[in-house]
Amino acid sequence: MNWPLQKNAISEEEINSLIEFLKSTNRYTQGVKVKEFEKKWSEWQGCKYSVFVNSGSSANLILIDSLKEFYGWGQNDKIIVPAITWSTNISPIIQSNLEPVFVDIDLETLSFDIEDLKKKIIENKNIKGIFITHLLGIPAEVEKIKEICSEKGIKILEDCCEAHGAKIGNSKVGNFGEGSTFSSYFGHHLTSIEGGFVCTNNYELYKLFLLKRSHGLARALPKEDFEKAVKENPEVDSKFLFLTHGYNLRNTELNALLGINQLKKLDKIIEKRNDNFKSYYELCEKNQDKIYKIKKEGISSFSFPFIFKKKEDYLKFKEKLKENLIEFRPIISGNLLLHPFLVKYKEEANNLKNCKLVHENGVYIGNNQFVEKEDFKIINKILEEII
Ligand SMILES: Cc1ncc(COP(=O)(O)O)c(C=O)c1O
Repeated sequence: MNWPLQKNAISEEEINSLIEFLKSTNRYTQGVKVKEFEKKWSEWQGCKYSVFVNSGSSANLILIDSLKEFYGWGQNDKIIVPAITWSTNISPIIQSNLEPVFVDIDLETLSFDIEDLKKKIIENKNIKGIFITHLLGIPAEVEKIKEICSEKGIKILEDCCEAHGAKIGNSKVGNFGEGSTFSSYFGHHLTSIEGGFVCTNNYELYKLFLLKRSHGLARALPKEDFEKAVKENPEVDSKFLFLTHGYNLRNTELNALLGINQLKKLDKIIEKRNDNFKSYYELCEKNQDKIYKIKKEGISSFSFPFIFKKKEDYLKFKEKLKENLIEFRPIISGNLLLHPFLVKYKEEANNLKNCKLVHENGVYIGNNQFVEKEDFKIINKILEEII
């Protein structure tokens, strides 16, 4: 591939640091490195509490499950989601016996279409939460969403798995609701190979995150809370005391160490991605009669989407990408309502007009710290040839 979706982002220095660490420790999980990464991530992100887990999907599962437990959401309660997001934003809702309500997306933000959102809130009873996705690093219109949702008491959740460092005003996304999630999977803004964070400013929620990450075990809690739980449950062995239902979604010391080293470079990586984004945006502006332009304010660019107004241009573009060995994929899996795992909702798929368009005419190519301004010449040439 001349232009893959992602190249290896782990340096030799980082590999050596892992080797040295392995030689120096006999503690490989849930030790000092995980704690250090959580502390440093919270400082970088601007939140009080972060829990390091083994994926962004696990972070989503913990967030949904914890909020359900914390607020006592019950069967048939609903969570609003976009129909273009990742599968594991929907699965934990269904697994938790909650009901997803699918909303169309807006072509500039690739997040909720505000009019469709208002409509779905009127049409549906028992909506308890809204799970925003800041797709491809574009900050969603959180202020507008909050205005619509807050009077109904709908709780805000944010998926920032593709949006590390994206901003609304001076605040990073992920700080506008009850909690937020991040992925540090290979290919995201920073990588711990596999990994993710679930973040919050609410101490009670933080405790639930800790419990659910680790089997529901009381000893996962901060010392004082653990001691309190032990006192309240004298009949059970303190080391094997389960306070709630949980999972094992822990990550390791090695992944944390890699994450700590990557975090040192994160601001520079975001700067480079956003610099690349400027070249991409110029191309879109030049061709805006054929391609939809996405929002640039506050972006922390994840990848370069091309959503064509005409199907034939989209098809020609994909052929040219193939010829030039440029890797591409749907945005980000197309309309999720067309996927077999959501067959129950398939009939709604065509009602979501913009999701349909993005599914049928949208593709993205990679952005990362290895893409150079020069690389855009080839995309420019392709667009000139086909348009
Ligand atoms: C928007 C979004 N949410 C969640 C996830 C899940 O993250 P992970 O792959 O770390 O499980 C992804 C994965 O890329 C994603 O793009």
